[in-house]
Amino acid sequence: MRLKDKVAFITGAGAGIGAAAALRFAREGAAVVVAELDAARGRDVAETIVAAGGQARYVHCDVTDEASVEQAVAEGTEAFGGHLDILYNNAGGSTPHDDMVTVVDMAEFWRCIKLELLGTFLSSRFGIRQMQKAGRGGSVINTASYNATIGTAGRDCYTAAKGAVIALTRSMAVEYAPDGIRVNCIAPGVVISPRMTRFQQDFPNHRIFDKKNRHHRPEVPSHLLGMIEIEDLTHMALFLASDESRRVTGRIELVDSGATAS
Ligand SMILES: NC(=O)c1ccc[n+]([C@@H]2O[C@H](COP(=O)([O-])OP(=O)(O)OC[C@H]3O[C@@H](n4cnc5c(N)ncnc54)[C@H](O)[C@@H]3O)[C@@H](O)[C@H]2O)c1
Repeated sequence: MRLKDKVAFITGAGAGIGAAAALRFAREGAAVVVAELDAARGRDVAETIVAAGGQARYVHCDVTDEASVEQAVAEGTEAFGGHLDILYNNAGGSTPHDDMVTVVDMAEFWRCIKLELLGTFLSSRFGIRQMQKAGRGGSVINTASYNATIGTAGRDCYTAAKGAVIALTRSMAVEYAPDGIRVNCIAPGVVISPRMTRFQQDFPNHRIFDKKNRHHRPEVPSHLLGMIEIEDLTHMALFLASDESRRVTGRIELVDSGATAS
């Protein structure tokens, strides 16, 4: 029970990495607020946790909408005594529409900035206020991507937005340390998630899978320890969420199977 008596708010917890974290955090004793745009997915995760004997509540949340995030944090934390100990800013994701700065559709740029950067900003704004109010410190976990730590061609919108999340992680770590609130960021490599599998099935000829593309950076060979599985992210998130990482803040933790080292 590494998260006993803690309350966790996880955005995008209805699928993929966020859903896995919600289920695991609950097994480790946390009460989990499943903050999700897709009501069916969010309810399903919350019901699965409760059916297994854990504590969870689904709240509707669109991380790109200020009023929605404020309401979700208030409603979710009220259900568990007004406390918030863990904020996992997980909602996000790239699309096949991303491209180089000279050619990409501006709609994709704003989609990324809103979902990745504004979403992290807003959830932190209301989540950290709640942590400060409860006065018992906390752990914020942001989500970037290894793409934002190296030069990756053809992903300029996503990379720029995730790079901003990395910068925000460091400034918030400094700002909220006096409150005992730690802020870290997980930067995953390519994860074998349902979304990535769908992406590959739906767009088998997309340029990121095209080894002859002049901008291709071979992603698969560079994952030195094999492709990343969702549970690899859950382990890192659990460490950052728990008191085991109580002296860890401002870190960008790459879970990239050595991709950035190769
Ligand atoms: N899967 C990968 O290979 C990979 C790699 C690097 C980084 N990441 C990052 O990890 C995070 C999770 O990725 P995933 O693959 O699990 O994604 P996913 O698409 O499987 O799940 C994302 C969830 O977020 C929800 N969501 C979307 N927009 C939302 C919004 N506006 N408000 C609230 N919820 C919203 C979706 O409904 C979905 O349930 C993202 O930030 C992504 O950028 C993923």
